[in-house]
Amino acid sequence: MKVIRNPQKLNRILKRISCERKSIGFVPTMGALHLGHLSLIKKAAKDNEIVVVSIFVNPTQFGPKEDLKKYPRPLKKDIELCRKSGVDFVFLPDNKTIYPYGYSTFVKVEGLSDLLCGVSRPGHFRGVSTIVAKLLNIVGPDIIYLGQKDAQQAIIIKRMVRDLNFPVKIKIMPTVRLADGLALSSRNAYLTGEQRKEAAVLSRSLSLARSLVQAGACDSSRILGRMKEMIRKKRQARIDYIEIVDLENLEKIKKIDRNCLIALAVKFGNTRLIDNTIINHA
Ligand code: PAF
Repeated sequence: MKVIRNPQKLNRILKRISCERKSIGFVPTMGALHLGHLSLIKKAAKDNEIVVVSIFVNPTQFGPKEDLKKYPRPLKKDIELCRKSGVDFVFLPDNKTIYPYGYSTFVKVEGLSDLLCGVSRPGHFRGVSTIVAKLLNIVGPDIIYLGQKDAQQAIIIKRMVRDLNFPVKIKIMPTVRLADGLALSSRNAYLTGEQRKEAAVLSRSLSLARSLVQAGACDSSRILGRMKEMIRKKRQARIDYIEIVDLENLEKIKKIDRNCLIALAVKFGNTRLIDNTIINHA
């Protein structure tokens, strides 16, 4: 496994590999790797001859009051995990290489970026789509692997790839959960013992929504009401949003009469967790 910091060098090597008709699978990350990331890497290794993982805590996707400085950076451990998981190249650029002095070019997927998490994190998805566009240009992968846990991010990247004609396939892999249902996230590390226990309510509320739909409920406000009621019973939970939205355009829907996404963001203390489930309408 090679760790490469220079984008031009990585690009040169990977172009040569592509010319040999070897397929390249790419997993973009901000490090603090957990089993969720490892499931993406495993799938990338199964599907492709070459696996590239990027580790870059992207400053442009953090708001001024967010956790950029304290975001976990266990770099040695991450590199070791990559090595053990069969990664071929780790791309480890620094801020100045990615955003040199005078950097002024951004990619924003209009509309989709301002809904759901975009409301309380303005500018977040502009940062995400910009860095992913740059990484796609540097790595030139055949397939990019993303997690369903960041459903809105995946939908935005899909739209950007389509709109800007990036020659890459996208594979979205299921959310990896702990025994009590909590979705794996690097931010779980910030939770206190009590918050960690309470946070399991998020996946339980999504299961409740699924069972209500299975039992014939289709009125969004009724389903959302039951979910909120369940979450509000937890002392430390503060709901940012819970919404039922169209799976394509992320617009709120009143009635579940098509494929939709139930998405939520809830704060426990200062830690904001997200989770979601997809409902496929029969
Ligand atoms: O999901 C993440 O870890 C990040 O948003 C990503 C896609 C690596 C871009 O920085």
